Amino acid sequence: MGENSVYKPNIIGAGEVGCAISVDMNKNVVHETNSSYWNTYGNEFLGAISLPLFGAFVSEEKCQLFGEVSGRKMLEIGCGSGQSLQYLGERNAAELWGVDLSKQQIEKAAQHLESCGLAANLICSPMEEDCGLPVDYFDCVYSIYAIGWTTDLEGTFSRIASYLKRDGVFIFSWSHPVHKCVAAEDNKLVFKKSYFDESWYSAALGEGTLTLSDRKLSTYVNALADAGFVIEQMVEESDAELMQARDDSSDFAAKAKMLPVTFVVKARKR
Ligand SMILES: C[S@@+](CC[C@H](N)C(=O)[O-])C[C@H]1O[C@@H](n2cnc3c(N)ncnc32)[C@H](O)[C@@H]1O
Repeated sequence: MGENSVYKPNIIGAGEVGCAISVDMNKNVVHETNSSYWNTYGNEFLGAISLPLFGAFVSEEKCQLFGEVSGRKMLEIGCGSGQSLQYLGERNAAELWGVDLSKQQIEKAAQHLESCGLAANLICSPMEEDCGLPVDYFDCVYSIYAIGWTTDLEGTFSRIASYLKRDGVFIFSWSHPVHKCVAAEDNKLVFKKSYFDESWYSAALGEGTLTLSDRKLSTYVNALADAGFVIEQMVEESDAELMQARDDSSDFAAKAKMLPVTFVVKARKR
């Protein structure tokens, strides 16, 4: 914890998880903290965030952002335990590749995909770094709730653009930054922190700790433009049918009726 560390309220995943501590961003420390979290806890506390879901209330089955994947070369950034790769493999994607910071997640993904009879190239590496992925190669790079963990958004988007063929597609989902500012309290939604605050912080989640920053939507949009992407579609709405099907009376579900909790972007390399 640096000299300038301050306490602030925080939201990770579905709800408020108590106070966060502001920290100075140090890439190696962030990677050490976050890989230690995922090596130990996997996605259990955050919930499974994998295709066909882009997040709790947004689904590929409704949005059809991927469309036909048969015969396509696919790369997942932050592939976790391989569930999304499985979804695309079962729809006859030609090649499955995944990158993840956590050695344990990569091992889980390898076991899972093997047990499904699917071949995949899995690489343990931070997404920010050169990990030997082929350039001008993929039809589609995607990421389900992992892009926001990068310590270098511009550098990561630029690497992703390099992996894609011309006209290749990049699809990613992440927590909506408005959701990260607002908590439910006494049947009201209350703004708990500034939307403009992109400072880094550490927060306890279950027994573990994660370090991240909440970027504005414009930060994502401008970084995509700088990396040579053109945005084709953006999804913010919570799907009414998914909300009904979950029959969920949690604060998170109440919130999802009023504001976006997830955003999904589909962009194309030009
Ligand atoms: C919420 S999970 C994504 C789950 C995944 N979509 C699935 O289907 O299992 C986030 C993943 O991002 C990975 N991650 C976190 N920081 C990363 C980084 N800097 N580079 C690559 N992967 C990272 C974590 O290890 C974790 O597996």
